[in-house]
Amino acid sequence: MQDAPPSVRPALLEVEGLCKKFGAHQTVDRVSFALPAGAIGGLIGPNGAGKTTLFHCVSGFMHADAGSVRLDGVAIEGRASSAVFAAGLARTFQIPRPFPDMTVLDNVMVAPLGQMGERLWTNWLQPGKVAAQERQTRDAARHWLDFVGLSALQDQPARILSGGQRKLLELARVMVAGPKIVLLDEPAAGVNPALLDQIVDKVQSLNAQGTTFLIIEHNMDVVASLCHPVMVMAQGRMLVSGRADSVLQDPRVVEAYLGSPA
Ligand SMILES: Nc1ncnc2c1ncn2[C@@H]1O[C@H](COP(=O)(O)OP(=O)(O)OP(=O)(O)O)[C@@H](O)[C@H]1O
Ligand SMILES: [Mg+2]
Repeated sequence: MQDAPPSVRPALLEVEGLCKKFGAHQTVDRVSFALPAGAIGGLIGPNGAGKTTLFHCVSGFMHADAGSVRLDGVAIEGRASSAVFAAGLARTFQIPRPFPDMTVLDNVMVAPLGQMGERLWTNWLQPGKVAAQERQTRDAARHWLDFVGLSALQDQPARILSGGQRKLLELARVMVAGPKIVLLDEPAAGVNPALLDQIVDKVQSLNAQGTTFLIIEHNMDVVASLCHPVMVMAQGRMLVSGRADSVLQDPRVVEAYLGSPA
């Protein structure tokens, strides 16, 4: 399967006719695409194109008005974000907001533990199972903090982290759950060049281990070095999709960027 060209690999994420309106503004307008398992897809487009809103709808943080989303062949539209996360789709946020007074380690442990340990009945009926899961999650959290290079800060409150370190914390946080696909919203924004190389490396090595990615990004060097296919949104619509070099030279894409508010 690894050797098959992207076009014949099965789609891990299939979005069909997705729509989302805010008031009279059609923010996501009949968006359809399919992302093969094993890809690092890019999603670019001018400010306000609807990229983050598309992520919200795909990940269950917002309900789309219409359309379908399939993850590994299973319909996930209309499910709560926690259910989508449990099904194997994790996402990060354009502006990471870790719990500031919790430690870096506890921030990484929050999401997976929320799936089981915080349910009253499970705590009461199966305390041993909950404790074992907590140990497992702690080990996984330490592993991923080490992977992103934040181990030394694990007992510090998250509020001391820089913007770039918060992006790495988010990557560790989503990886703890062992997702099939990770949606990253502007992983390079506000990140200094040294950390940027680290993020690119981490994404590549996670992808080599089998994680599929879809990445919103404005840094075109990052997009060109990481992403295939690159999909372009403008004014809520999916404009074009293809190889980074051809997409970035496409006159429709150039026009969409030139015509957008600065
Ligand atoms: N909750 C909301 N209520 C009303 N309008 C919204 C809401 N969220 C987004 N919008 C509007 O929808 C449009 C698309 O926003 P979105 O954040 O999806 O764009 P984007 O492509 O992610 O842009 P950027 O590259 O600047 O992050 C914008 O005009 C924005 O103001
Ligand atoms: Mg956005």
